[in-house]
Amino acid sequence: MNDKIAYTRHDDVAVLRIQNPPVNALSHAVRQGLSDAMDRAEADEGVLAVLIVGEGRAFIAGADITEFGKPPKEPHLPVLCDRIEASPLLVVASMHGVSLGGGLEVALSAHYRIAQPTARVGLPEVHLGLIPGAGGTQRLPRLTGAEKAIEMITSGRHVKAGEALDMGVLDRVVEGDPEAVGLAYAQELLAEGAERRPVSEMPAAPAIDWDATYDAVLKKGRGQISPATAVRAVQAASELPFAEGLKKERDLFSELMETDQRQGMIHAFFSERAVSNLPELKGVEPRELKAIGVIGGGTMGAGIATAALLAGLVVVLIEMKDEAVAAAKGRIEGNLQGALKRGKISQEKFDALTTQALVVSTDYDALKDVDLVVEAVFENMDVKKEVFGKLDAVCKQGCVLASNTSYLDVDEIATATSRPQDVIGLHFFSPAHVMKLLEVVVADKTAPDVVATGFSLGKALGKISVRAGVCDGFIGNRILATYRTAADHMVLDGATPFQIDKALVGFGFAMGPFAVADLAGLDIGWMTRKRKARDRHPEERVPTYIDKLCEEGHFGQKTGEGYYVYEKGKRGGTPNPKIAKLIATEQAELGITPREFSDEDIVRRYMCAMVNEAAKVVGEGIARRPLDVDMTLLFGYGFPRYWGGPMKWADIVGLDTVLADIECYAKDDAWFWQPAPLLKQLVAEGRTFDDLNKEAAK
Ligand code: 3HC
Ligand code: NAI
Repeated sequence: MNDKIAYTRHDDVAVLRIQNPPVNALSHAVRQGLSDAMDRAEADEGVLAVLIVGEGRAFIAGADITEFGKPPKEPHLPVLCDRIEASPLLVVASMHGVSLGGGLEVALSAHYRIAQPTARVGLPEVHLGLIPGAGGTQRLPRLTGAEKAIEMITSGRHVKAGEALDMGVLDRVVEGDPEAVGLAYAQELLAEGAERRPVSEMPAAPAIDWDATYDAVLKKGRGQISPATAVRAVQAASELPFAEGLKKERDLFSELMETDQRQGMIHAFFSERAVSNLPELKGVEPRELKAIGVIGGGTMGAGIATAALLAGLVVVLIEMKDEAVAAAKGRIEGNLQGALKRGKISQEKFDALTTQALVVSTDYDALKDVDLVVEAVFENMDVKKEVFGKLDAVCKQGCVLASNTSYLDVDEIATATSRPQDVIGLHFFSPAHVMKLLEVVVADKTAPDVVATGFSLGKALGKISVRAGVCDGFIGNRILATYRTAADHMVLDGATPFQIDKALVGFGFAMGPFAVADLAGLDIGWMTRKRKARDRHPEERVPTYIDKLCEEGHFGQKTGEGYYVYEKGKRGGTPNPKIAKLIATEQAELGITPREFSDEDIVRRYMCAMVNEAAKVVGEGIARRPLDVDMTLLFGYGFPRYWGGPMKWADIVGLDTVLADIECYAKDDAWFWQPAPLLKQLVAEGRTFDDLNKEAAK
């Protein structure tokens, strides 16, 4: 036995305490330790029952994800689970914190389960591109029935102890020290003469309409295969004897382990945690954050204020006029009403947030005590500089001065103050109280503790914060501009916007770029095209057909017409028949003979444009690591999580293939398709983007 399991004896009960911080993942050593400890308990004279408990903050968080992709070492988890269940001793699991994946599977192999009221259980393997692989799909439905098991496995959600008790996953919920309540339960069971109760020997769950369930889950997964695969595993639990069902589960699990989706999902899991872990911030203390100011209560300002209020911060919001103040307050209240309706906050909390925690004013002096200000006024350098000048005059020393600008130069904004070290970009995404991404834009003179404060605000608001450098559009919008352009080029050359949207939804995006443009408002792109027209490179290809629609006052969803036509009260739109004519006219003017694009061509060009620009963003140090780009696209731009992000996608496809495609496209448009130096370098050296992530972690 090793030091991962502490073995103690309490009369006729042997206690096996798992000690593998931080979350008792089932590493090889833990599996070996548990197996040995079961042997010891069975050989220990007088022992009649075994109690399994976890040390620290969780029972067991699951299999050790860091071991995935490496050759598996015995004892394998399914074998260990069977071994625990088959023990002649009475086995009890006492659970606290989380019991997830393999952790719950170990508990399901015990004969009785007791948990703390605060405990949560779940089988979240689908979030890693997998299904439960140690009997979870076979044992859970025997306790809960097929429907509840499928819901729990395909959603991967954490189920609270009370609900788990009702579902039959737990036998008892008792508050107290997990070991003490577990021991009491085990002793009570022994005193009652309770029998071993292996779940595998319980009757199988009755059949449901498996094919209909499979189809529904597949559709909901938007291209993700693991949830639908889980349905087949639960079906096996219902139709096959236990041992055969277990084998079927194992086969499906092993197949998924070999997929790109599993690689992508696990990359996302670790990157999500690594993204805010910046070496430059080690030992740097963030400044205190209790009250924040927000300048401008439009779409973004109201969203940012809502997020801050929900996180328990005091918010002082400044608008230009009394009517704008009232409108801003109305927007924030509307957002908070949403939280109230969804049961996220109580009426009492709603009242407190809107009356005590929120101050709205036209007077900048109201900002004198705040710890950080986020400016969210119009996207105009002169307006921003004027605001920062005012902030410099009223804000206390040490107050962080942040701009939510989408594209403007944060270094230039900082020149409007006498304290550029306190100035930073905090780029939220719309709707700011919903979207998870926050770009923390570090300007030349930004002080390290101001950067740390940006990250601590992101954490307090529950955001995924990504460090970005200053450039036009920072990480996300800069890359977006490039792949959007690739889509525009494909339209000029013969693909329809509708085919492009469909192909990209097929790839896994929540929406295609043209549907997104309709949602955001076509006027934004129209204004940007006008603004940039003066400095345009002669070889740059920019379609103008959509400007004609804008000239007629059609700006997408908000006006009912854009690339798509929208009917009131209906979700989504239908392709606008005007678009084909407008495109054909422009093609004729440009002398372009339209050609066919397959869905695969479309995805390939779109992704190559994205990866190429992303490689430039990393090469220039705007993003420090490829994983920063991946998390930006995942949390801000609806990139399918199961690909892990564009850089991970490129690694999976092969960087040499991506570069070869780019070089091929460059034959027709060398100006747009200039390969990123970093991409060329990595291909020449036979390295991947993930190698750069690993080097940065050292
Ligand atoms: N394996 C290895 N490391 C793990 C892990 C796991 N299963 N779960 C968490 N960790 C690590 C994290 O990477 C992190 O490491 P770091 O400190 O070096 O960054 C550390 O533990 C703490 O994790 P969090 O920062 O996420 O801590 P939280 O308290 O926010 O969350 C948690 C804890 C809810 C357990 C969350 O980490 C989580 O959801 N973990 C994944 C759980 C999971 O997916 N389990 C299923 C695994 S697959 C499986 O069991 C297959 C089986 O069916 C055969
Ligand atoms: P908006 O037009 O909805 O709101 C701007 C608000 O600022 C208006 O209510 C206006 O009255 C107020 N305002 C203007 N000047 C002011 C001043 N001097 N003092 C106080 N208030 C003033 O604009 P939106 O969309 O909220 O954008 C704000 C900023 O956020 C812009 O810089 C924009 O680029 C950026 N942004 C916008 C996103 C979006 O999707 N809308 C996403 C991310 C960033």
